[in-house]
Amino acid sequence: MPKHLAMCAPDRFEVSYTINPWMQPDQWASQRVDLEARASLGWRELVSTFKSIGAQIEFVPPVAGLPDLVFTANAAVVLDGTALVANFRHKERQGETAIFEAFFRGLMARGIIKSVQLLPANIALEGAGDCVWDATRQCFWMGYGPRTDLAAGDHVSRVFGQQVHALELINPHFYHMDTALCPLSGGEVLLVESAFSNRDLGLIRQIVGVQNIITVPPESAAQLAANAVCLGRDLVLSTCSADMEAAIVERGYQVHHVPLEPFAMSGGSAFCLTLALDRQSGIAAKAA
Ligand code: ARG
Repeated sequence: MPKHLAMCAPDRFEVSYTINPWMQPDQWASQRVDLEARASLGWRELVSTFKSIGAQIEFVPPVAGLPDLVFTANAAVVLDGTALVANFRHKERQGETAIFEAFFRGLMARGIIKSVQLLPANIALEGAGDCVWDATRQCFWMGYGPRTDLAAGDHVSRVFGQQVHALELINPHFYHMDTALCPLSGGEVLLVESAFSNRDLGLIRQIVGVQNIITVPPESAAQLAANAVCLGRDLVLSTCSADMEAAIVERGYQVHHVPLEPFAMSGGSAFCLTLALDRQSGIAAKAA
């Protein structure tokens, strides 16, 4: 289970441009003071929740003009000590690549990361947000279309030596894989069905097994409930329906709710605000 995370404080966070359907700068500006205060409180509660369940956190310093730097899940794909740094689709976020690269080089100097890899400039891949590791099945679920290029899949499988299931994200509200699919430590998968084509849903069901799928109801999906962080038997998320919570608890997990609504106004929640630095594949775990 990952215990070492990267996060970035929301000191410079705001919604000042629109690159997904959740982002409405006018709405943000009309409640700015209140939203900034709530973002800061919610984020600090997220930090203390992770610490209370045993996680250690590295902090990326905030940068003015890069409000989405808080979403560290997009920084890189990290597995077995290798960080494959993101290339962003939209110019609004492209300045983040150099910041995250410097951050990972700093981690490498401290022995926390073993290798920092870059993608070719013409390939977009928005980090762990679009390349979700499934420890049970030892594979990546890669979302492509809105933010990540299908061609990124070959790079990911070559760099990490792991299988990549590339699925097209067809619903603009679920534009990153981590908004639509969340593997839990016991093998269950939280799934937002409307994010995928029928063909890809069939593939997911076949690989995961229908008995392992916990369907995220539409009203919970609209609260970004699938954007959850699973650390062992603890599941950290913003909000979800009582039914969804009951289904998760029944499988033996403890649900921790942290109020993150200001981040949902940017299209993000608990998972996006977090990057696991110490995920190990089975191959690496056996070799250790
Ligand atoms: N405003 C950010 C964007 O649109 C939100 C990113 C959320 N990150 C995630 N991994 N889902 O890029």
